[in-house]
Amino acid sequence: MSVDGWSEHEPVLLSETISLLKPRSNGLYLDGTLGGGGHAEAILEASAPDGRLIGLDRDPRAIERSRMRLARFGDRVELHERNFATLAESAELAAVRLAGALLDLGLSSAQIDEKARGFSYQQDAPLDMRMGPRGEPARDLLARADIDELTEIIRRTGGWDGERVSLASPPDVRRLTPDRLDDYLRYFDGPAFADNPVWSRCYCLSYHLNAMPGDFDERTAAQNRAEKAELIRRGDATGVLAYAGADVVGWCHAAPRTTLKLLDGTPAFASDDPERTGAIVCYVIAPQYRGQGLARRLLDAACDMLRDLGMQYVDAYPPKDAAGDARSYHGRLAMYLEAGFEQLREAGRYVVVRKTL
Ligand SMILES: C[S@@+](CC[C@H](N)C(=O)[O-])C[C@H]1O[C@@H](n2cnc3c(N)ncnc32)[C@H](O)[C@@H]1O
Repeated sequence: MSVDGWSEHEPVLLSETISLLKPRSNGLYLDGTLGGGGHAEAILEASAPDGRLIGLDRDPRAIERSRMRLARFGDRVELHERNFATLAESAELAAVRLAGALLDLGLSSAQIDEKARGFSYQQDAPLDMRMGPRGEPARDLLARADIDELTEIIRRTGGWDGERVSLASPPDVRRLTPDRLDDYLRYFDGPAFADNPVWSRCYCLSYHLNAMPGDFDERTAAQNRAEKAELIRRGDATGVLAYAGADVVGWCHAAPRTTLKLLDGTPAFASDDPERTGAIVCYVIAPQYRGQGLARRLLDAACDMLRDLGMQYVDAYPPKDAAGDARSYHGRLAMYLEAGFEQLREAGRYVVVRKTL
């Protein structure tokens, strides 16, 4: 056991890895992501007495730890601090004939647990996120790079190949009314969840239903689409839409609290004055229009709408952490605080915030 967590790391799918690799005694193996050395150790054991292993990791701490752990294998092991992506740049390494190779991609739990590395959202530490001493800490990159450079980095490294569209003029924000039904459906049929097809069935219906998410999972997209369309036709669904030209590019689901039945299933979200409270439960911004303040515009318009509907308060339920991905669909806490909301109480991983209209 080690105090810094490296050797405590349990190798993932160890027996499956060994049964696939079938290490043999005269084979040469590559572990491109050495980490705590658990897989490497098992490969060396299984390829005894003279199987060999080349181990790489870009993190010098991983190399240091693995060197200790694998010392008993003597010259059967060769370790290098390097990025496996640069393997071909080393003539010596590129020339070897391997019997098998392993890449156990990602981070090791020891890296996440080490506060100073700034990988974890659970610990308050400067955003570093490097796997070793080389390169630029994420906090410096974020402080210096402009939006175009960041977009390019995310496109290159994150698999996002869509275009980011700059809003030439502020979006037109309009309230959802029956005559905007086609615009709404066109948005949810296509662009709304272009990068998140798993949620494309929702049509933002769930908060109208007195059902737990488990039941919702069994519903089809067609069912949700038809029921939401009917609510909109009857004027029983409210919210605000952002338009770029004729196209909807953003949506905020805001409504009188009493019409959002799903909220009744979460006592921590209860309002002391439900008849006069509006609620904001969801934002869906088209991927290429994110990061341009659209959610904030929708929030302001939603508050105006709820005031006009006779509400005195508006409640919202942002998550406590600041995850900037699709799970932040309730909106970010910082945005609400900026818009004059106050924190009422914590509710599990959420915070209940309120603004008096
Ligand atoms: C999930 S851990 C590996 C755990 C390891 N298989 C074990 O048994 O302990 C992933 C490791 O890959 C390393 N890593 C990530 N990207 C790398 C890269 N491009 N080149 C080399 N190492 C990398 C990380 O530093 C981390 O130590």
